[in-house]
Formats: sequence, C-alpha cells, structure tokens
Amino acid sequence: MQKIELKDKYILVTGAAGFIGASLVLRMLGEDDNMHIIGIDNMNDYYDVKIKEYRLGLIEEAVKASSSDFNFIKGSIADRDMINELFKKYPFAVVVNLAAQAGVRYSLINPDAYIETNITGFYNILEACRHSYDNGAPGVEHLVYASSSSIYGSSPDIPYKVEAKTDEPVSLYAATKKADELIAHSYSKLYSIPSTGLRFFTVYGPAGRPDMAYFGFTDTLVKGGKIKIFNNGNCLRDFTYVDDVTEGVLRVMKAAPEKKNGEDGLPVPPYALYNIGNSSPVGLMDFVHILSEELKTAGVLTEDFDINAHEELLPMQPGDVAVTYADTSALERDHGYKPSTDLRTGLRRFASWYREFYG
Ligand SMILES: NC(=O)c1ccc[n+]([C@@H]2O[C@H](COP(=O)([O-])OP(=O)(O)OC[C@H]3O[C@@H](n4cnc5c(N)ncnc54)[C@H](O)[C@@H]3O)[C@@H](O)[C@H]2O)c1
Repeated sequence: MQKIELKDKYILVTGAAGFIGASLVLRMLGEDDNMHIIGIDNMNDYYDVKIKEYRLGLIEEAVKASSSDFNFIKGSIADRDMINELFKKYPFAVVVNLAAQAGVRYSLINPDAYIETNITGFYNILEACRHSYDNGAPGVEHLVYASSSSIYGSSPDIPYKVEAKTDEPVSLYAATKKADELIAHSYSKLYSIPSTGLRFFTVYGPAGRPDMAYFGFTDTLVKGGKIKIFNNGNCLRDFTYVDDVTEGVLRVMKAAPEKKNGEDGLPVPPYALYNIGNSSPVGLMDFVHILSEELKTAGVLTEDFDINAHEELLPMQPGDVAVTYADTSALERDHGYKPSTDLRTGLRRFASWYREFYG
C-alpha cells in the first residue's frame, strides 16, 4: 500500500451533507491534521432536507474546534463545468465520492436520478481526477468512492467476498454501483489513478437516512402505525454502525493501492475494492424487537408499547435481497480494521438521537 499523508492537503468529499459524508467530515475534523476539506452536495429533497442542514450545522460547530477548515459548495457532481472549475481551483490530493442517488426501491420510481448522479456524476469526478495530472501536476493521490453491498444481488454464497462474481444486480441502483466499479477500473488502468471502491453494508446511526428501515420503522411506530416487514421477516441484514464506516473510510483514505508494473511491463491498475460491513447479520424480526426495546428505553415509545400489534408481514419487494453479509478479510488484511459496534449499542445511540431531534 502507498501511505497517504493527509496533513495540510486538500480533500474533496462529495455528498458532504449526506449521512455518511457528514459523519466522515466530522470524523476528519476531529483529527489533528490541518486539512482543507471541500464538501459538495446538491441538497436534493429525496429525503427531509432539514436533516442535511442539521448535519451541516454539526460540521459548522465542529470546525470551530478543529485545526482543519471546511468549505461547503452547493452543487451537483453532474455539473461538469462546476466540477472542472473546482479541480482547477483546489489541488485535491484525496477525493472521496459519496454523492449518489441511494435507495433500492426509489430506483423503480425515479431511475433518471441514478443515471444522472451515479453514472454521469461519477464519470465527471473520474475525468477531473484524470486531468489532475495534466502538465506534470502531482494530481489526485487517492480516489475513494462508495459502492454498495447491493451489487452482490441475490447470491447465495455468503458471506460475500470482494472477489465474488457480481454480475447479476437486481436493481438499477445496484447496476449503477457496479458500473462505477467497472468505469473506475478502466480509469485506474488507463490513467494510473489510485482508486479504492468501498462496498458499504446497511449503514445506520444517529442523523441517518429517513428512507432506511430503522428510521422509517421508527417514524411509523411513533405515529402508531404498522410497519411493513417484507419477505415475512425472513431477511438477514449486516447492519453497520456509521462510526465504524467512517473509521474504515478514513483508514482507507490514508493507504492507496500502489502503482506498479506487471510481468508484461505494463502498469497494473492501482485499484482495490473492500467490503465495509459488520460481518454479523441479524434477522429482521430480531432487529425490529431490539429497535423497539431501545426506542422504549430512550422514551420514544411508551413502556407498554406492544410491537407485535404493529407488524405487517408482506412478501418480498422487487429489487430487494434476502441476505447481506460482509466478508471483511480484505479490509482486515490491508487496513487492519473491522467494524465491531453491535446492533443494540448502535440502535441505542440512534434512539437517543431521535428523541433529541424530534422531541
Ligand atoms: N447508507 C447505506 O446503508 C449505504 C449502503 C451502501 C452504499 N451506500 C453509498 O454510500 C454513499 C453515501 O450514502 P448515504 O447513506 O450517506 O446517503 P445520503 O443520501 O444521505 O448521502 C448522499 C448525499 O449525496 C447528495 N447528492 C445526491 N446527488 C448528488 C449530486 N448529483 N451532486 C451532489 N450531491 C448529490 C445528497 O443530497 C446526499 O446528501 C452513497 O454513494 C450510497 O450509495 C450507502
């Protein structure tokens, strides 16, 4: 691995007002590295924009006590001219692309958003990285980008290994993430861009995404409604706590795949992929019961709330997969790291944040 020093460097984080992006920026601000962090986000209303603004507020507070600075730009990575201008203005050493249209189910409703951001937007980032080396400039030392566990499709070969075949995505979202990995590989080979793709597994935590099950279930239960449990609850999810994810991302940012030549004398693409998952999947029904217990403890639900009366079992949804389960041996081998926060601890933190945020 090629060690990357972050001290005094310019670092671009796309999707900086997003759940993982904002958590990463907060984590970086806690480092004593005097980084120049540029965050970009288009602040779209796929989910409540107030949560994105709240996250930016946390960043604004954290900057005050940090050795690093943070500049926020409201804009889209699909805007080629804007991205090019940004790369002209700042000599980015590390680029972390987290901006995406996320969500499996929404890709059936608004497919355009997935092509615009996940394909065109990511392509703009790759082109900008490519031209960062023009005229002998040192350019981007490491491009880190988000992929997803969804690219494993309905594969029965669990736990999912990074080397496994991932040619059968079951949603457009997954297909765009797989396309990102492939396009990044070609750019890495052609232009020697050191790049690392990270396949995240069901990330959850405080100030998370309202479109995800743990958050949506909470909203429904608070209103006294019934939560829809698909595949009759026969799903396993590798829930991964957000701080474990950002710790993994930060470690990966600091160590890029090395540039070297193969036996044929031609450059081997400096390219790597890792799973970032908890590696301990939990059944959906167990998850629902732990969530409801923690919501009671935090005072979000009343002590006598009967969760069994608020469950509606339904068949499998199109685009969904029954199991996600990460094999993290590659991450452990190359970066000495493995997520470890257990679900109850993580949901406790989510529940107490929810209580504070919504009152
Ligand atoms: N949260 C998870 O469980 C999970 C799992 C697998 C992969 N991922 C991936 O991790 C990354 C971060 O996900 P997240 O959970 O933080 O999602 P998020 O939706 O909270 O964050 C993404 C951010 O990108 C922004 N964005 C969308 N389109 C944009 C565009 N064209 N230009 C600029 N900004 C844009 C959104 O406004 C949002 O704030 C995404 O790439 C996602 O696909 C997340």
